[in-house]
Amino acid sequence: MSKRVGIFISGGGSNMRALVQDMTGDHPARPAVVVSNNEDSGGVGWARQQGIATEVIDHRPFGKDRPAFEAAITAALAPYDLDIICLAGFMRVLTAGFVTPWEGRMLNIHPSLLPKYKGLNTHARALEAGDTEHGCTSHLVTPALDDGPILGQARVPVKAGDTPEILAERVLIQEHKLYPAVLRRFASGNTTPVML
Ligand code: GAR
Repeated sequence: MSKRVGIFISGGGSNMRALVQDMTGDHPARPAVVVSNNEDSGGVGWARQQGIATEVIDHRPFGKDRPAFEAAITAALAPYDLDIICLAGFMRVLTAGFVTPWEGRMLNIHPSLLPKYKGLNTHARALEAGDTEHGCTSHLVTPALDDGPILGQARVPVKAGDTPEILAERVLIQEHKLYPAVLRRFASGNTTPVML
């Protein structure tokens, strides 16, 4: 039976689209729901057009009460009977209370070659450091931010004249290849890292 995947987004959701578009044919998983903390995220409209269920849980009414926000997500997820969660540009930090029950079943894509540049502004930080190589990482989510066993990495060159925006675009193209490849392998029960 196909694995049921929930994909969490906050913005345009281009990684979510790449995952959804790959989950056809003999792929061992199917999208069950797209979750967003932002009704305006472009990805929500796209998912609805594809006939995928969506759940929007705005974090703002919860203020600093992350556990209450996460409890609302957990309640919204209940009907979907998910096997796997893919964080795909979900820009809210999740606490251990949410992460721990999903450990080993929750994946993330991060725009750096982890363990370098956890957190935000990864492209600018790679440029500032004078790195000649940059990239993206997919990993299992643990309570520590942008940590956890690596499931795959893709590398890109840093070129003369690169700005954070240009570099982000080059990395994003690789994210769209890496994350679907990782999910396909993971959903079939194989956690050997995908190295692109
Ligand atoms: C992607 O580059 C993803 O790696 C990054 O946000 C972007 C979302 O783009 N995620 C993080 O920075 C998580 N800390 P998308 O909405 O087009 O997939």
